[in-house]
Amino acid sequence: MPPTNALTTDDPSLTVVDPYYANLPAYMTEVYAWAYVNPKKVRWLDHNLVVRILLFFNDQRLIRTYLNEIREGMRIWQVAHVYGDLVKRVAVKTGPQGTFHLTDITPIQIEHAICKLRDKPWCKVIHKDAAEFTGEKGIDYDLICSFFLLHEIPDEKKYKVVNNILEMLPKGGKAIFIDYGNPAKWQPIRYILKIVNTLLEPFAEVLWKNEISHYANNAEKFVWEKKTFFAGVYQCVVVRHKD
Ligand SMILES: C[S@@+](CC[C@H](N)C(=O)[O-])C[C@H]1O[C@@H](n2cnc3c(N)ncnc32)[C@H](O)[C@@H]1O
Repeated sequence: MPPTNALTTDDPSLTVVDPYYANLPAYMTEVYAWAYVNPKKVRWLDHNLVVRILLFFNDQRLIRTYLNEIREGMRIWQVAHVYGDLVKRVAVKTGPQGTFHLTDITPIQIEHAICKLRDKPWCKVIHKDAAEFTGEKGIDYDLICSFFLLHEIPDEKKYKVVNNILEMLPKGGKAIFIDYGNPAKWQPIRYILKIVNTLLEPFAEVLWKNEISHYANNAEKFVWEKKTFFAGVYQCVVVRHKD
């Protein structure tokens, strides 16, 4: 199947592929192109208000949960870009004595992240799949964060991303997964999300039944601490090596 936005030319033997869409996995071009790949839409979406509305006004407490784990001078890997000012806040809290590495798979997200972080030389934006990133020489990360990535990727990718994060986690380090959880039956948002998931988020609802530890090959080697927010709509799972 040709890429969704293959451009046409007069020469029938030639297909010009838009570089913003090139080499992306199918879930990005077939499910999430409107949200993360199309540069015009991304320009509209990259604002705090979008994150606030998407998270039913829970954005600040979820962001705080991540920021509270950061100490000045830490070495941090965030596995994917997030709209709004989150990455700038992480960079500021990490500070010039620290290191902040941000990976993303999508060219336009990389451009936006570079614009946000370009005046902070302790930050580096890296065009890489979170399932394949093997880090930078000599750096052991103190904190690795996945902020609302898992619900957007197919199950086989969830396994790869979770296991890569755990493989990259040194003894003494922490991984933090902030994402959707299993909303309580009485929580009206549960039923709104059911509709959203059916229409737009085909890989999200599996997190209602699978714990994040389900995706780890060696879950028993780690300590998994889970907190939930907003009657279970969201979860934060902090993972450490056992002793
Ligand atoms: C973190 S998630 C969702 C976050 C949140 N909804 C927001 O406001 O941006 C979105 C990001 O994940 C990126 N992404 C998707 N699959 C990825 C992968 N395998 N590795 C790294 N980044 C990925 C997308 O390009 C996008 O920038």
